[in-house]
Amino acid sequence: MKVQLVTLDELPAEGSKIVSFFHKEVHVYLAGGAPRAVANVCLHLGGPLECIDGAFVCPWHGARFDMSTGEKTQGPAPKGARLMRLPTIVENGALFYVWGEV
Ligand code: FES
Repeated sequence: MKVQLVTLDELPAEGSKIVSFFHKEVHVYLAGGAPRAVANVCLHLGGPLECIDGAFVCPWHGARFDMSTGEKTQGPAPKGARLMRLPTIVENGALFYVWGEV
């Protein structure tokens, strides 16, 4: 399965862009120049994530996640929690979600 998430020129230089992925929200963004995609779901109680000052922050109870690693850096999400990162590839100027053989 291969599903286009965004074209590379649509990725913001800073922050993130939210795109729809099978009726769920996904943040797409650049981390160290590499495109990434993570589910817009906090690992505490499922709140939405906002991109603030280079981190994903949940407004519900203040959990904070590193944008490069997805690891929780602050707040009530479980110890060792890491944001759900989608497997992706870059092809023909676009970022694709991939699963299984393509
Ligand atoms: S749901 Fe995100 S910190 Fe509680």
